[in-house]
Amino acid sequence: MKVYLFRWNPRTEEKPRYDTYDMDLNSYLGRREATLLELLGLIARYYDHSLSFLNHSNCNRGVCKRCMVRLNGKVVLACNEVVSEGMEIRVEPVNATRVVRDLVTEGL
Ligand code: FES
Repeated sequence: MKVYLFRWNPRTEEKPRYDTYDMDLNSYLGRREATLLELLGLIARYYDHSLSFLNHSNCNRGVCKRCMVRLNGKVVLACNEVVSEGMEIRVEPVNATRVVRDLVTEGL
């Protein structure tokens, strides 16, 4: 699957960018589907340790709302949203005008 991921540290970078990842979920997870939160975890673990996103491991089931992001323009909970091989996705913060870093925004 192809992932376009919003990246921005407003303190050090003038403007946002999108990093692109060609992911093979099956090679990491042994399955062709994952939650969006799992996918972000894979990117942070295997591609870029500096990726910032909120992951509340005690929740991980749609309760706390901390993992809220935009997936192809639609606001979703990353822990509830399933992505799969063959998809092309764009992942962005909920509110790009209030970015703290990458997918983390003020107020969440
Ligand atoms: S981790 Fe709590 S709603 Fe997703």
